[in-house]
Amino acid sequence: MGKIISIANQKGGVGKTTTAVNLSAALAVLEKKVLLVDCDPQANATSGLGIDPDGLEKSVYECILGQVDAKDIITETTTPNLYILPTRIDLVGAEVELINEKGREQFLSRALADVKDDYDYIIIDCSPSLGLITINAPRRTRQTPQYRSHSADSPQPAASHRRSADNHV
Ligand SMILES: Nc1ncnc2c1ncn2[C@@H]1O[C@H](COP(=O)(O)OP(=O)(O)O)[C@@H](O)[C@H]1O
Ligand SMILES: [Mg+2]
Repeated sequence: MGKIISIANQKGGVGKTTTAVNLSAALAVLEKKVLLVDCDPQANATSGLGIDPDGLEKSVYECILGQVDAKDIITETTTPNLYILPTRIDLVGAEVELINEKGREQFLSRALADVKDDYDYIIIDCSPSLGLITINAPRRTRQTPQYRSHSADSPQPAASHRRSADNHV
């Protein structure tokens, strides 16, 4: 199974999508097979990879609800080795629809179960909230960056790293 990396922060405009798209593209250029999962209803990662969200018949929304297989939605991009599980605005409705479901925090995990072994990396671009869809994403993540608070006996990071740690991107 490949590595799953969630890019999550409750704040908007901190570079989550930029990080997700560029990290995915960079790994693809290194000949890693990469799946970018767009879990933000604003669909910026989807449009950023050249797909019109309004033109999608099915998206990660139907996938999370178990109405369609991830394999049937995953789309090849113009970058070799880079694939996307696209989204559109109706993903926002999944928050409401899943709220009373048992195991509601594992729907994305189930949706990706059939494809997780097909990729070297799965990058998940989260929405700027700590809602149900974002909670679904880290549960698929085996490793997340850990940011320690810096004490006198631990070296201070460079300024650029400190900014990144403060944002928890
Ligand atoms: N490292 C960076 N330096 C400068 N601007 C950036 C950087 N990363 C992202 N941005 C800009 O910040 C804005 C928000 O980025 P975005 O990735 O959409 O954030 P988010 O997904 O967290 O809402 C965009 O206009 C993007 O171009
Ligand atoms: Mg974003």
